[in-house]
Amino acid sequence: MITEEVVQGARQYLMNTYTRYPIALSRAQGMRVWDVEGREYLDFLAGVAVNVLGHCHPKVTRAIQQQAQHLQQSSNLFYTEPQVRLAKILVDHSFAGKVFFANSGAEANEAAIKLARRWAHERDGQGRFEIVSMLNSFHGRTLATLAASGQEKLHTGFDPLPAGFRYVPFNDEKALADAVSTQTAAVMLELVQGEGGIRVAAPSFLKACRDITRERGALLIFDEVQTGVGRTGRLFAYEHYGVAPDIMTLAKGLGGGMPIGACLATDAAFTPGSHGSTLGGNPLACVAAIAVLEVILEDQDILGHCARMGEHFLKALKDLEAGCPAITNVQGLGLMIGVEVTVNAHDLVHDLRKRGILANATSEHMLRFVPPLIVTQAEIDRLVVLLGEVIEARR
Ligand SMILES: Cc1ncc(COP(=O)(O)O)c(C=O)c1O
Repeated sequence: MITEEVVQGARQYLMNTYTRYPIALSRAQGMRVWDVEGREYLDFLAGVAVNVLGHCHPKVTRAIQQQAQHLQQSSNLFYTEPQVRLAKILVDHSFAGKVFFANSGAEANEAAIKLARRWAHERDGQGRFEIVSMLNSFHGRTLATLAASGQEKLHTGFDPLPAGFRYVPFNDEKALADAVSTQTAAVMLELVQGEGGIRVAAPSFLKACRDITRERGALLIFDEVQTGVGRTGRLFAYEHYGVAPDIMTLAKGLGGGMPIGACLATDAAFTPGSHGSTLGGNPLACVAAIAVLEVILEDQDILGHCARMGEHFLKALKDLEAGCPAITNVQGLGLMIGVEVTVNAHDLVHDLRKRGILANATSEHMLRFVPPLIVTQAEIDRLVVLLGEVIEARR
């Protein structure tokens, strides 16, 4: 099929949940993707912060191919080795003691919310159920994770949402202190807000989150669905801050492209029947995730490279900002970077695409760059030059 046919087919048969870019992708390798006509793009979006090792990394591909010959799905009524191996790697390299596997970020967060409520219920009875989350946050599209997402526009038309969620401004210690009470089961936040526009948590705010929750008997949940698995230059973003949560969620980068989510916790209040998933921890997804983690942890200096490239990228963008009044802010951590602009960011995404670059905008004035962690300095420099040109042309 040519692009036009794919687009027409999608309009006819798919539910209209996304404003899609008019590109039909057919293959990808490393930092590059190609559309069905063979046009090449440099990928600064990486399946929305998913392909941390680049597309079709040979070790991930091999792991999936080999596993596909043996066992593709088992349900969770049986034990499988890949699930146990993956859980052990996650536990060995984090604060956590136990893992629950799901299929997506929303499901991982749904598990985290249920786990926090269950834990509070067991300890304190029915009065402690509230989840305090941040304005501008994004935690997923299920009803509970939507309720936890502090963006009113996402809630429109889905009332009544589950009760027991309240929001405080991100990085506002006083508002947090005022909001957390004996009703609070957990405080939940992203360490770098992603979908709500790239905003980095202040170290003093994270420390306040930890101190206040501990003082008042609530749990702390870090949503590392986007920041986890190397994206910020550390395996998990919380390592930058020296503050560990009680519960953490992962998805996106974990499977390197295969759908998998995980909810990690110091301990678990779940009992058989209290939570579950037919496909969660599927062997194909688990072997892909094991391969991703092994590459990150053992094979190469990927985390160091990500941190260096992130610094270079930030500096190059800040240099661009200095000579370009249309850029009003540049923020990020590792390779999760946002550029705030006065011109229309969706137009800039379109213009970059015409020049062979894939990126996206999280709002009308915020561009987001989340390339694979293997991006090179030359590729970053090329993007920054093109970005300067497209902004200049739109001013
Ligand atoms: C921080 C965060 N949490 C949760 C989600 C939801 O993940 P998924 O789309 O896999 O359900 C996202 C997705 O963008 C996210 O960025």
